[in-house]
Amino acid sequence: METVEHQGFAARLLEWFDRAGRHDLPWQHPRTPYRVWIAEVMLQQTQVRTVIPYYERFMGRFPDLPELAAAALDEVLSAWSGLGYYSRARNLHRAAIRCMEVHGGELPTEAVALAALPGIGRSTAAAILAQAHGQRLAILDGNVRRVLSRWQAVDGSPLEAAVQRRLWALSEAVLPESRLADYTQAIMDLGATVCVRRVPACARCPLAADCQALAEGAVERYPAAKPRRVRPLKRTRMLLARDALGRLLLEQRQASGIWGGLWSLPERDPEAALAAGGAPGRVLRHEFTHYSLDIELWAVPPAAVAEVEGRWLVPVEALTLGLPQPVRRIVEALQRGEEP
Ligand code: ADE
Repeated sequence: METVEHQGFAARLLEWFDRAGRHDLPWQHPRTPYRVWIAEVMLQQTQVRTVIPYYERFMGRFPDLPELAAAALDEVLSAWSGLGYYSRARNLHRAAIRCMEVHGGELPTEAVALAALPGIGRSTAAAILAQAHGQRLAILDGNVRRVLSRWQAVDGSPLEAAVQRRLWALSEAVLPESRLADYTQAIMDLGATVCVRRVPACARCPLAADCQALAEGAVERYPAAKPRRVRPLKRTRMLLARDALGRLLLEQRQASGIWGGLWSLPERDPEAALAAGGAPGRVLRHEFTHYSLDIELWAVPPAAVAEVEGRWLVPVEALTLGLPQPVRRIVEALQRGEEP
């Protein structure tokens, strides 16, 4: 176990939280396991400000775990519509079903069992159990990694196993004995509002007195940047068919593979489009974590997609469905009356 001279790290953080932290986040009232789980998964890749309206809507539609498990996947994807990274929504749905089948309709209260559910890793499991049950478990998400690596000037890429181990040990070493729910929210809030990536507000930080990175005058050097990866480039084509009523054709993608279960413009080779008088239009680039995708957009007459089984929808209707992000941008442009 890492020993650090922490001079009341947690006490200072809690004092700051009581004074300046966020106390009116919707998942804090009430702080149930189900509500915290949904919030933490939404917050994995999305900021608090963006999450809140989606969160309220999602809770209105799926107020508890059995309701989520009983819903059709399509309804869940539709409620997720606009948040992106839809694998999170698919995993929520699968995890809810698993909880109905093997955990008596509840989220497990044991960290290892919770982290075994789809979409919940070690840090998210700890964040749920600390906030909902006050369990004394350390978290290590992007915010906490930044706070801790600055406070102790932890060198090295956060992708290295040795650096990860050190940060986890540090996160455990500074845990308080009590108030784990508030503490967990506090350290995430500090990372999200004070110890931000660029131009942190060190003058307002309760950890400034013994922050090693600040003492070095090098706060922005921590955490070390991840090595840049060169992403391979792939290409595909999508067909944009519109009818005389301004409706466009969307088809549901297969459940597995990229954008599984989402509604998309048909992804096809353009032979049929060429034969029907289609023409290539703009190329839209979409960045995935592991590769870039260039989408060549073909405007085609409805005859070119006669064999596609899908739904003809006006843009405002289409936007209520779960759509891949580049398709959402195209449909939003059409709704504004622009050509994508
Ligand atoms: N990021 C992840 N979880 C969070 C939370 N509960 N509050 C603020 N930011 C977060």
